[in-house]
Amino acid sequence: MSVREQLDKEKLPKHVAIIMDGNGRWARKRGNARVFGHQHGVKSVREVTEAAAELGMKFLTLYAFSTENWNRPKNEVDALMSLLVSTISSETKTLMDNNVKLKSIGCKETLPQDVQKKLAACIEQTKNNDGLTLVLALSYSSRWEIVEGVKHIANDVRDGKLDSSQINAEIFSRYLETADMPDPELLIRTSGELRISNFLLWQIAYSELYFCNVLWPDFRKEHFFEALLDYQGRERRFGKISDQVKK
Ligand code: IPE
Ligand code: IPE
Ligand code: MG
Repeated sequence: MSVREQLDKEKLPKHVAIIMDGNGRWARKRGNARVFGHQHGVKSVREVTEAAAELGMKFLTLYAFSTENWNRPKNEVDALMSLLVSTISSETKTLMDNNVKLKSIGCKETLPQDVQKKLAACIEQTKNNDGLTLVLALSYSSRWEIVEGVKHIANDVRDGKLDSSQINAEIFSRYLETADMPDPELLIRTSGELRISNFLLWQIAYSELYFCNVLWPDFRKEHFFEALLDYQGRERRFGKISDQVKK
């Protein structure tokens, strides 16, 4: 039986988040410039998007560019930004064909104008699709998001729209970029790095974590299914004891 056939359709996560890592190392291994790895990573993005859509998942969040990634050499940042522009254009059809809606999280204002425009156009074009929502984290970092949320909530308290005694975890979640999304049940990171790198810190409080050694440009549907199968073997206890959560 293939890995995909072994998946329990009733126990699929609604939201999977992925830290797509290892593009630079993939390119270096082949004696190429790092940007070559980023270019090849686009195919992996297409694969996981199609796989998630086929499985009927509701949200797939991909960490595409972090706040800290602005500190990379200018030529790499420029190459990543132009790759974003060309990819959004070339992949809009795939999104339409798969009934996928595009969304982004992160500090949009810091992205170059052409990226902002393409992104807005694709979001507009796909807004009525009601299958998978593909969320691109662009110029995103979790601490930035949380601090923005705190500023916003402080303004609402100052303006009398909210009483500070009402603030709880559920209310606070509504001030984050991910307000209308469920928390990811599963977080995947490729390339063997065992860290979170400022991604969805609030939202992954109870996510299952899956790390694999595959470099992102080599990541295919099969690897995605393997991560899902591994997830399905986990017992999610949310602080309770095993007997309480067994059905
Ligand atoms: C992930 O691959 C892509 C981005 C961060 C944009 P990297 O570029 O981090 O690749 P490695 O980790 O250097 O191999
Ligand atoms: C995390 O990868 C960011 C993205 C995948 C976009 P990095 O490669 O930037 O993370 P660190 O620097 O190794 O932690
Ligand atoms: Mg990396």
